[in-house]
Amino acid sequence: SQPLRIGLAGLGTVGASVLKILQRQENALAARCGRAIRVVAVSARDRKRDRGVDLGGLTWFDDPVALAKSDDVDCVVELMGGSDGPAKAAVEAALSAGKHVVTANKALLAAHGVALAELAESKGVALAFEASSAGGIPIVKALREALAGNNVSRISGILNGTCNYILSRMEEEGLTFEACLKDAQRLGYAEADPTFDVEGFDTAHKLAILTSLAFGTRIDAEAIHVEGISAITPLDLKMADDLGYRIKLLGVAERTKTGIEQRVHPTMVPKSSAIAQVMGVLNAVSVDADAVREITLVGPGAGGDPTASAVVADIADVARGTAGLPFGLPVARLEEAKRAPMQR
Ligand code: HSE
Repeated sequence: SQPLRIGLAGLGTVGASVLKILQRQENALAARCGRAIRVVAVSARDRKRDRGVDLGGLTWFDDPVALAKSDDVDCVVELMGGSDGPAKAAVEAALSAGKHVVTANKALLAAHGVALAELAESKGVALAFEASSAGGIPIVKALREALAGNNVSRISGILNGTCNYILSRMEEEGLTFEACLKDAQRLGYAEADPTFDVEGFDTAHKLAILTSLAFGTRIDAEAIHVEGISAITPLDLKMADDLGYRIKLLGVAERTKTGIEQRVHPTMVPKSSAIAQVMGVLNAVSVDADAVREITLVGPGAGGDPTASAVVADIADVARGTAGLPFGLPVARLEEAKRAPMQR
């Protein structure tokens, strides 16, 4: 059968890792998917930067929308980021032109996920976003597929690698917030604008997506109470430590009697708890559900290769034709989320 032709929009840390994995795993992926996966076109702002990857033979587009519309592309992989602007324009153009889309863009999905899923559905193409939440942890597929037989009551966890990395190193090594943030940026964990990480918005974007998948509700990012970690001081960590606690930035979504409650805030967790053991750039997601009871997935939540691992899994789904509906059910069947008043 014909190869799947990929157009890659965005060549930052994750984009470069995706190219490397597709090259390294070319034969294994072709065997697993029953067809070859071939990157044919790329677009990025900076043509000259050395990304440690061979771009020879690829068509270069300065405009991601032109790449998205190209007749040579079957599937657009959007790794630019940003809830509006070029990323949104490129994803809309691709879906409208009947092309599959794989994206890691949680900000875009939190703001426009339902409308984009509707567009994908109307065109009969995939909109896949495993990499949008919790990096390398396959939580999107877990909720949509592996847990399809469950009624989920709660989903919670550490969803931002940068914040967990900062809090871990501040506690373990007594470093300042600023020094830890700089390292997280250098290692390719942080968002282009790290305010999204440290003020809790990135966690909120991911929580909004996971809440929708867990409860079968329309994304409601505006309902989330958001508080980040920028005001946490070494003294706070020390006092928590003295009391037998660690401070973690958690995202929590719960089905309550009055509706769905979603919140993001620093939380004191007992040092003996499983969540307190999750240190560094790791994320952890726990799901409470009626049949499976409780499961927790732990793994790298940010960084090039772990995030690219999830992107490539979606590309493989598209190549095999097993991507399914974005939210696991038709958009028309997603319920309107009823907001629960916050209990504190
Ligand atoms: N900046 C994000 C994080 C990247 O630190 O978790 C992964 O979404």
